Amino acid sequence: MAAQILDGKLISQEIIGDVRARVDACVAAGKRAPSLAVILVGDNPASQVYVGNKKRQCANAGIQSVAYDLPETVTEAELLALVARLNADDSVDGILVQLPLPKHIDAEAIIEMIDPAKDVDGFHPYNMGRLALRLPTLRSCTPRGVMTLLQRTGIQIKGADAVIVGASNIVGRPMALELLLAGATVTVCHRFSKDSAAKAREADIVVAGAGVPGLVKGDWIKPGAVVIDVGINRLPNGKLCGDVEFEAASERASWITPVPGGVGLMTVATLMQNTFDAYLKRNA
Ligand code: GUN
Repeated sequence: MAAQILDGKLISQEIIGDVRARVDACVAAGKRAPSLAVILVGDNPASQVYVGNKKRQCANAGIQSVAYDLPETVTEAELLALVARLNADDSVDGILVQLPLPKHIDAEAIIEMIDPAKDVDGFHPYNMGRLALRLPTLRSCTPRGVMTLLQRTGIQIKGADAVIVGASNIVGRPMALELLLAGATVTVCHRFSKDSAAKAREADIVVAGAGVPGLVKGDWIKPGAVVIDVGINRLPNGKLCGDVEFEAASERASWITPVPGGVGLMTVATLMQNTFDAYLKRNA
């Protein structure tokens, strides 16, 4: 039986529409609109596409986006100074620094410079720490977006066995925390794991976020499992593909996310939610 598609397009549009309605209500009450500073360094084509999508969805959500497009040659000190200026600017609710940054810049130092109250990516150690402790916080966009997708589709998370493939700061580790906090039993596989295929075959929910095209094979999927593909990889022919062998996995899964049209859209919609949440909290 073919899997049902977890519709990131539909659910992301619902979320953005919901943010829009809440922003419109604030503006109608005489408040200013939320504002997101979007910093892009260099001319990485994938980053340009992601940032373009973020700015477009800001417009749809009624959020003002302010672009800072900096040359590849910008120094770490200059970038730190920009973040400090945006931290001090009361009209800025969220600060997004698109990753990856050029090698001569220490990304961790930049992330740590962002005021945690404006860290709409949820990457600051303060916000990650609060997530680990189950305290209210700005949660990383991709893992929060995946949780929204699962929850709005009515997928059982409590008691489920979940396997995450990939242990990055942006996806795997915060994803593990999210699923754990929602009551799943979580296994995280990474490059040193002995038999990721065998572990995945036990899972009710598989989340692939390794950034390796087609890493997760169809026969890694237990019949009836839910498959979440976080990978966005560009093939030499220009096409986008995920980390999962989509066709083969679809024959076994109950639900699966497509690439494109799945988690990527949820990440951007969740950024809108986080920016609105930061705005509300800062202007409470
Ligand atoms: N690069 C890849 N994913 C992300 C993300 O979610 N946020 C930022 N800022 N950069 C990224």
